[in-house]
Amino acid sequence: MISRDFNSSNFVQQLKEDYRFIRGWIKNPAAVGAVKPTSEVTARHMAGLLPIETGLPVLELGPGTGVITKQILNRGLPSEKLVSVEYSPAFYNHLVEQFPGVNFVNGDAFNLAETLKHVEFDTYAGVIGAVPLLNVSMPRRISMIDQCLEMIMPNGPFIQISYGPKPPVEAVPGKFTVEKSGRIYRNFPPAGIWIYRRDVQ
Ligand SMILES: C[S@@+](CC[C@H](N)C(=O)[O-])C[C@H]1O[C@@H](n2cnc3c(N)ncnc32)[C@H](O)[C@@H]1O
Repeated sequence: MISRDFNSSNFVQQLKEDYRFIRGWIKNPAAVGAVKPTSEVTARHMAGLLPIETGLPVLELGPGTGVITKQILNRGLPSEKLVSVEYSPAFYNHLVEQFPGVNFVNGDAFNLAETLKHVEFDTYAGVIGAVPLLNVSMPRRISMIDQCLEMIMPNGPFIQISYGPKPPVEAVPGKFTVEKSGRIYRNFPPAGIWIYRRDVQ
């Protein structure tokens, strides 16, 4: 028997999203870094940490099939104020169709100076990162956080999802701080959300 809460179109949508994601993972497992998209509850939690009320644009890194993108837009951010960088051409083409008006860039989130050279914004309210940092070297991880904090307003957050029990990068005194924003158990695998901010001593 199908329960009264069961919504078949949501279920089919979820299956399609999972299928698209798994195909991306088969093509490039290290870059995709997870076997399933982030759960809706986790994506909503991450988007909820953004200071949207500042009116500044938001930068997203590694949108994949767009689960976090959708929650950022649900916060009320106008689509033209969202810049989102995706490396995979297949995900990028899907996102452009799915979210009209968002500034998607098909490029490398580890080289933001080059990737964002045609984007008009220079100061962001915050950054949401879903690129799998644990699959790259520590200097590359630190460099990404540094590059992002350079572009974020004072005290604005760089919000990163990561699957280990520890932050992907520990705090670097004088450079940035890190705090945990809850482990989200309704996510497979369980994810930690880490918030980095510039360390102003
Ligand atoms: C773990 S998936 C997250 C996807 C989605 N945001 C989610 O939460 O379900 C990582 C995403 O980062 C993208 N990615 C990996 N390396 C990247 C890079 N250097 N620049 C931009 N995107 C990258 C992958 O193609 C993939 O879409």
